[in-house]
Amino acid sequence: TVLILDFGGQYTHLIARRVRELGVYSEIMPGESSVDDVLARRPGALVLSGGPRSVFDPEAPRPDPRILEAGLPILGICYGHQLIAHIMGGAVHRSPRAEYGRTRIHVTGESALMDGVPREFSAWMSHGDVVSKLPEGFSATAVSESGLIAAAESPGRRIYSVQFHPEVAHTEHGREILRNFLFRAAGLSGGWNPGSRIPAMVEYVSREIGPEGRALCAVSGGVDSMTAAVIAHRAIGDRLHVVFVDHGLLREGEVEGVLRALDGVGIRNVHFVDASDRFLSALSGVADPEEKRLIIGRLFAEVFEDVASGISGIGYLVQGTIYPDRIESGASGRGSDRIKSHHNVAGLPEKFGLRVVEPLRDLYKDEVRAVARELGLPESVVGRHPFPGPGLAVRIEGDVTREKLAIARRANAIVEEEFVRAGLYGAVWQAFAAVMDSTWVGVKGDRRELGRVVIVRAVTSEDGMTADWFRIPHDLLATISKRISEEVPGVVMVAYAATSKPPSTIEPC
Ligand code: XMP
Repeated sequence: TVLILDFGGQYTHLIARRVRELGVYSEIMPGESSVDDVLARRPGALVLSGGPRSVFDPEAPRPDPRILEAGLPILGICYGHQLIAHIMGGAVHRSPRAEYGRTRIHVTGESALMDGVPREFSAWMSHGDVVSKLPEGFSATAVSESGLIAAAESPGRRIYSVQFHPEVAHTEHGREILRNFLFRAAGLSGGWNPGSRIPAMVEYVSREIGPEGRALCAVSGGVDSMTAAVIAHRAIGDRLHVVFVDHGLLREGEVEGVLRALDGVGIRNVHFVDASDRFLSALSGVADPEEKRLIIGRLFAEVFEDVASGISGIGYLVQGTIYPDRIESGASGRGSDRIKSHHNVAGLPEKFGLRVVEPLRDLYKDEVRAVARELGLPESVVGRHPFPGPGLAVRIEGDVTREKLAIARRANAIVEEEFVRAGLYGAVWQAFAAVMDSTWVGVKGDRRELGRVVIVRAVTSEDGMTADWFRIPHDLLATISKRISEEVPGVVMVAYAATSKPPSTIEPC
């Protein structure tokens, strides 16, 4: 395991993901963890992350200094690079020339870290302070175009540091530099892959729930909740009860697909509830986006409660919470995690006295997909784009009527089908259609006919937090537009959304 000590850097999760992609399991811990807590995890190496503070700031987080003397291989990145210099007797200064963005780096020395890396490359920088003097026993191995120390090391102590960010995609050869650290400098062996965590996850669920315990798991059709259910099923078999609520706002074919997938992996205790009438009547006449979400969330909890109270002896709730869902400070400490409201059942554990079990708590999204494939879940679940909990309601402007819902369902299916056919489904984060309240004058035969506007949106994104609108090939857009306007009754205009996030969000409501 590589432990990443987090000092609040915006790329900390990215470091963890990159290390795992290179085949070494990694976890994030608070930067100020004690040396005992760190060593108790038996790490093979440490990474000190970046962070927003200056080492001179009295509030700035600092590692336990004994960590630097524990003999572990260490890589400091950005703030971590400055911390090493500051703590070990070098000097850090506020720089007259802050470096932000792409910067040229010149490799000036021999270094295991720079093995196979060209003598000059571009790297991503984001810092105001600089290391102006290295601690004793350290040498600089690279400088930036403005002559500042960009990389330093004390190979005897196996301590390395870089001012730039090797984990971001804008840094050329960043991957090689991280690989060099892991395998050359730290001498670790790779070979870890997400599937290798399956036994540990199954074991964790068995241990948490015990030999007699019974658990509930709400699935939405999304890959996280389905994977959590399969892991839990492996652990406790038919003591797992899966609840699947159809709120009437699911995608075309989704209900059948999810039921088939559950059946396919042998989950027998499935409580399927068709609550669509109830949801649609509660939503009738409600136009405000936030109000729609609240109604759906509240009703979902009610329906779930109804089902749950009909099953006796339940003590646990299995949830598909994944690593990035766990909040910042909690991301690292066990036990003290705050959890994002997930799958609309956030309030239930307290109400029913259920203990929450989260088998995927240490995995990233793409790792969950890899695990899901290995567990035998079908591609329709594993590879499907993220879909919001409140379903198609967030893709319908204004009130949710059966008319608009039918348009949304069919138009979304067409967009998906055509992206798949064009081989571009996997190239985007999401591709969907939204139904507007606005109308457009159409002409069908010789008749004037008012029809609806459907907006097609496709975005690329790493995590949904920011997104770029997808430069959709015109042929693909033409096919989608033609099919929606011809095959979906009531639609007269198809438009394409060409705004990124920010300033727009991804979903319209
Ligand atoms: P926005 O629209 O906020 O969406 O840019 C960012 C990402 O989150 C998804 N999303 C949701 N997911 N419950 C969810 O589970 C929700 O209420 C919800 N709203 C948005 C959205 O699809 C996008 O991927």
